Amino acid sequence: MPRNRKKTGNQPKSRSDRNNKKSAIHKNTNHGYRNRAESEGSEQKDSGQNYAKQEWKPGNMVYPVPAVLVTVSDRTGNDNIFTVAWTGTICTNPPMVYISVRPERYSYHMIKETGEFVINLTTRELAFATDYCGVKSGREIDKFQELHLTRQKPSKVLAPLIGECPVNIECKVTECRELGSHHMFLAEVKAVHISESYMDAKGAFHLEKAKPIVYSHGEYFGLSQALGTFGYSIRKK
Ligand SMILES: Cc1cc2nc3c(=O)[nH]c(=O)nc-3n(C[C@H](O)[C@H](O)[C@H](O)COP(=O)(O)O)c2cc1C
Repeated sequence: MPRNRKKTGNQPKSRSDRNNKKSAIHKNTNHGYRNRAESEGSEQKDSGQNYAKQEWKPGNMVYPVPAVLVTVSDRTGNDNIFTVAWTGTICTNPPMVYISVRPERYSYHMIKETGEFVINLTTRELAFATDYCGVKSGREIDKFQELHLTRQKPSKVLAPLIGECPVNIECKVTECRELGSHHMFLAEVKAVHISESYMDAKGAFHLEKAKPIVYSHGEYFGLSQALGTFGYSIRKK
């Protein structure tokens, strides 16, 4: 269909229109995206949808992200919990993750000292604790005690697992990159603990049943419904 021609309805009229429509639907490509030449100076054409943008100064805008509870420990057994949103997976094999931490955090020196930490995934039920551990410092309080959280024994590192979290990921640092405000700890996953409460009879793990949360532009959100499974876009019906 020629551009800028107002559609009279949803049904394609000609055979080529029909084919175009079909491929657009099947390839899932027709979501308002046009190439640069087509788009220039036409932020609000055709569909009536408004694509006008404001340019903001450079900043962190990759959202949503996880908000995890990271547990750390020093060599004498003092431990702590703090919240981290700058985290993610960086390699499948070997399994590797990162956390980016400001050196002024109380937890920072413990990670430097032991080269270890545990990533504990958060849930709706732990949303309050997630925020609390991100605004209170272990310099003043014992966050485990304040929040009545359960220390669980790790297998490969010194830092405790948080019993209430559905997944605990024990990590050993391989590299620390001093990027600027944050130092990025790249780490290898040494052990993963999965809560049996969210496993079915066949041993499959249903993380969604734990009601995970995400952090997006200053707010915590729960997840809603599943939209598809991995590869669903090309799967034969
Ligand atoms: C949602 C959220 C995400 C956060 N993400 C990070 C992060 O990625 N890196 C970091 O250094 N601090 C992050 N913080 C701040 C620390 O968690 C916070 O300063 C905490 O009090 C440090 O605890 P500590 O002094 O006991 O180590 C975050 C805080 C919140 C609430």
